[in-house]
Amino acid sequence: MKTLRVVADVRAALDDPRSAGRSIGLVPTMGALHEGHVSLIRRARAACDEVVVSLFVNPSQFDEPGDLAAYPREEQRDAAVAARAGADILFAPSPDEIYPPGFSTTVTVDELAASLEGAHRGPAHFASVATIVTKLLNMVQPSVAYFGQKDAQQVAVIRRLVSDLDIPVDIEVAPTVREPDGLALSSRNVRLDAEQRRRALALPRALDAARQALAGGERDAAAIAAAARSAMIAAGVEPEYLELVSPDTFVPIGHVNGQPALVAVAARFGDVRLIDNALLNPSDPATERL
Ligand code: PAF
Repeated sequence: MKTLRVVADVRAALDDPRSAGRSIGLVPTMGALHEGHVSLIRRARAACDEVVVSLFVNPSQFDEPGDLAAYPREEQRDAAVAARAGADILFAPSPDEIYPPGFSTTVTVDELAASLEGAHRGPAHFASVATIVTKLLNMVQPSVAYFGQKDAQQVAVIRRLVSDLDIPVDIEVAPTVREPDGLALSSRNVRLDAEQRRRALALPRALDAARQALAGGERDAAAIAAAARSAMIAAGVEPEYLELVSPDTFVPIGHVNGQPALVAVAARFGDVRLIDNALLNPSDPATERL
């Protein structure tokens, strides 16, 4: 695996494979790679001829300076993890390569980005994610780009912008990878102390409670959300939000019937803010569907 730092070098490295018709997979990351990222890189390796992993901690998508300052940065370790998972190129640009002096364009996705994460983190969050992802897709020009279902609203924003801006790429979404006790993997989990780590199980418990309510025949979204919220409160955690929404539009839904429904939740554990979600499947409530 080679580490490249400038766009021109990435393009040059991909020139020959691209003209030979080889497929290119891109896994965009902010580093601090965990098994969730590894599963994305392995998927890309299995499906594509060339695999590029990007590593760029995008400052403007952090709404809290403390979160940005505490974000783990371990490029050597990340490079080893990416190489082991099968990456051919690690694209690790400097901030100036991404945002050169004079940079002044922002990609915004309207309503979809305004609710839940957008409402709690502020409008700059998804505008910044949409802008960096658009840039990475243009820089690498992959055939397929890989994202994790844990960031469900990010996935919806990216699908929207790819469709709206006619970017010729397939977006593949991989299921959330979890610890054996159910906690979704996140680069922020390492910042939880033992007590916060224990309380963080309120998130998967809330999702289980939603699935159980559905399995018990409940179809009213407010009642399912109330069951999930009670499970969190019982675990001593007040959710920042907990809502049932359409996974494509993030508009709240009233009833779970034929159409896809996503239960999305966020909560704080000290300085650490975690999110999680589950796609509800009314025909088989015990399972998730992508
Ligand atoms: O999901 C992430 O790690 C980031 O939001 C992404 C997609 C790499 C953009 O910075």
